[in-house]
Amino acid sequence: MKATDLTLSHLSLAALAALLPALATAQSLTSPEIESRIDELLGRMTLEEKVGQMNQYASFQDMTGPAPEEGSARERYEQIGQGLVGSMLNVLGAEATRRAQELAVEKSRLGIPLLFGYDVIHGYRTIFPVPLGEAASWDLEAIEASARVAATEAAAAGVHWTFAPMLDIARDARWGRIMEGAGEDPYLGSMIATARVRGFQGTDLSALDTVAACAKHYAGYGFAEGGRDYNTVDISEQTLRNVVLPPFHAAAEAGVATFMNSFNEIGGVPATASVHLQREILKGEWGFEGFVVSDWGSIGELRAHGVAADLSEAARLAVVAGSDMDMESGAYVGHLAALVESGAVEEALVDEAVRRILRIKFRLGLFDDPYRYSDPEREERVLSNEAHRATARDVARKSIVLLKNEGGLLPLRKQGGTIAVIGPLAADKDAPLGSWRGQGAVDSAVSLLEGIRAAVGTDTRVLHAEGMTLIAGTRDFGVAPVFAEDDRSGFPAAVEAARQADVVVVALGEGAFQTGEGRSQVDIGLKGLQDELLREVRKANRNVVVVLMAGRPLVIPWMAENVPAIVNAWLLGSEAGHAIADVLFGDHNPSGKLPATFPRHAGQIPLYYAHKNTGRPATDSVFTSRYIDMPNEPLYPFGFGLSYTTFELSAPRLSATEMNPGEALEITTTVKNTGTRSGAEVVQLYVRDLVGSVTRPVKELKGFERVTVAPGESKDVTFTLSAADLAFYTAAGEWEAEPGDFQVFVGSSSRDVKDARFTLK
Ligand code: BGC
Repeated sequence: MKATDLTLSHLSLAALAALLPALATAQSLTSPEIESRIDELLGRMTLEEKVGQMNQYASFQDMTGPAPEEGSARERYEQIGQGLVGSMLNVLGAEATRRAQELAVEKSRLGIPLLFGYDVIHGYRTIFPVPLGEAASWDLEAIEASARVAATEAAAAGVHWTFAPMLDIARDARWGRIMEGAGEDPYLGSMIATARVRGFQGTDLSALDTVAACAKHYAGYGFAEGGRDYNTVDISEQTLRNVVLPPFHAAAEAGVATFMNSFNEIGGVPATASVHLQREILKGEWGFEGFVVSDWGSIGELRAHGVAADLSEAARLAVVAGSDMDMESGAYVGHLAALVESGAVEEALVDEAVRRILRIKFRLGLFDDPYRYSDPEREERVLSNEAHRATARDVARKSIVLLKNEGGLLPLRKQGGTIAVIGPLAADKDAPLGSWRGQGAVDSAVSLLEGIRAAVGTDTRVLHAEGMTLIAGTRDFGVAPVFAEDDRSGFPAAVEAARQADVVVVALGEGAFQTGEGRSQVDIGLKGLQDELLREVRKANRNVVVVLMAGRPLVIPWMAENVPAIVNAWLLGSEAGHAIADVLFGDHNPSGKLPATFPRHAGQIPLYYAHKNTGRPATDSVFTSRYIDMPNEPLYPFGFGLSYTTFELSAPRLSATEMNPGEALEITTTVKNTGTRSGAEVVQLYVRDLVGSVTRPVKELKGFERVTVAPGESKDVTFTLSAADLAFYTAAGEWEAEPGDFQVFVGSSSRDVKDARFTLK
């Protein structure tokens, strides 16, 4: 259903038509006027000044990586005045950015403005759900709206450029950064990539409510061996092209201004030094016109990877490979001019990189008014905008996934009775903000307890008992989390509250900094005494609703078996408590669907729905691809999520059973609401290419649509598939569809599907 991964020669007419609206909104990054202004400026720049544009330093305001090897804040700010710095990251606020900008504009010879970058990952001041959570909404409009609010706030605080969206496909929940992306699927990931780029960038980078976006981490970062951050990646060109790259390509098609390369090596070549990724694919095949920034210190890390003997060699490898800006290695500013002077690097490579960087500065309007984003009065006004909280609440409740609801325990009554609210995360006002929370203030989220108290009537008794505390890490990157608490002294009060209540809401999961960068875990079950607390509470009262908060899928076999209701609430941001209460009390009927598989056991990882069939697909026989101690199936599959109503989907009806390459096929299913409430179902379309020149996944998502259906009502949902939608990176190294038989599935998850067949001629 997405035509953007295709070269024009492979596009069918239908796919081309589908592509046109996207092309109309994507902005070209070049224009004749801008290019001639760049020509003029480049002509006046010394080699040192050019290299300066390729240099990015961090301020010391908010450290998001290891401390620099050399250079004090004072020295760095002096270098700005010398024209040796093109961009700064982590300079925060209208005042601070204005002061730094003055150094560049007033002091440096050519007065080229600085570009200010910051990680605005899920909000700047108003914090939205962690990106994995938002992805569970499968609601592209809501996701775009979230990115726009983030852009509006960031731009008002002097930020020009966000290091988002993070587009790494992640199929390993041990990897802490799974929280930053859209989950395991390239199609969903591509749609969300486009929505986020549009949200951040709008249609005009110079507008005051947009920022330049950055597609990261390019590429393969999510495939780290063992789920351990920064670890080796070794994937095939097939996996790279068919799984990892589609969201990046979608972002490029949507006009994303920048890319960030990744820390990992891939097939023996660190991504930062990869000619294949940066020059051949990104700038060559895709014609990307923005610039590539390195990740924090990743050019310097080429030494540790063992491909460069020293920083000079690292600089040479990176610039040759197409890394245009050096974040925090000091490699370019320290060595590039000498490399050019000695003939080791062609000056044309430097010129090209600088052209790309200046292009984005022109697009942002910085040459017209370098201070346009640094207005303290506007910052104050925009950052206290209450409407942003309303958007955050809306996105947050749409992100919630109902995993279990036995006996219709949910929704709860607002009037009368006693609700016990228990658990280490119940009153936590900080955990829901998650990692990468921008300038979201500490303890500024609405807690679950507050949300429940605000929702219920005066005749409802709300009891609260923490039960235990969760020591779950801090924001400080230097401190390792400790989970070894053994204090059960809060258990009796929790059990007593459960006994007195009609229903118990237990908030469990992970702290804010258990996911995020450098936060990989081998054990992704409930840490500490949480499982034990849950068992005790469950003994006292069977009516248990678990509200699970985490930035990753958790392994929760006992809970899934023994607790009647589970609400997966991720880390939902500033409005978390209100959003969860909206769902608990039925003011919002949940419709979120998992963007990543929940395994039964971490030993099953990597576990994802779009796996290959293997030569020996699992049966009861031992000589098949299975474990002897556990089923292959996950606990909750990709695309899964319940509602307070029930839906029935009909088998797919096809407009034809044969499809000619230039034609489109229509697939229709009837969705019937068989329950008693109105609700929204996310209807999913999958295909399986039965025989290919290379092995194909057993299912691949190709479309989805949200449909709201009233009780007793039926609605048709029709998907259109063209040959282009069936294309993949073939054995011949072409992106094309191969003729043959296909299975097509419609369903409410990747598991619960009905199918039909057709043949592509
Ligand atoms: C992360 C990037 C981030 C950068 C700047 C790095 O450590 O990998 O995602 O954008 O720091 O904060």
